[in-house]
Amino acid sequence: MKEKTLGFIKPDAVKRNIVGEILAVLESERLDIIELKMMRFERREAEAFYIEHASQPFFEDLIAFMISGKIVAFVIEGENAIVRYKELMGATDPREALEGTLRKLFALSEDENSVHGSDSISAANREIAQIFR
Ligand code: TYD
Repeated sequence: MKEKTLGFIKPDAVKRNIVGEILAVLESERLDIIELKMMRFERREAEAFYIEHASQPFFEDLIAFMISGKIVAFVIEGENAIVRYKELMGATDPREALEGTLRKLFALSEDENSVHGSDSISAANREIAQIFR
């Protein structure tokens, strides 16, 4: 089934000038990027984006990190795009991520983990509407 998913390249990766390297991995995996922009979250926007994590102990650090610099937001479209991109990202914690995944290749830690991807069709629809309205 053809679907869309939303991704970010997070501030840790933008600051290290590896946006192109990450986009090159997506392209080499034949994930089609149909929207792309650099942006910076306002605190309120980041809190709304991550609202489902609001009760988590890491929430405040997550928001502080996500507003600490520019991010690159994109939409990928294709067959099983959500799962294919999630697998390419790898586990949240790079110590647990498989070889060849974006987080194994690029992430610094569980919080500064370089990339975001939508978890489900409903999350993707909500996230795309928020970021590319
Ligand atoms: P989550 O949606 O669980 O992970 P993923 O990005 O792999 O789908 O969490 C969102 C982000 O919150 C995650 O990318 C990094 C941050 N986070 C932490 O900093 N510490 C944690 O223990 C968890 C679970 C997440």
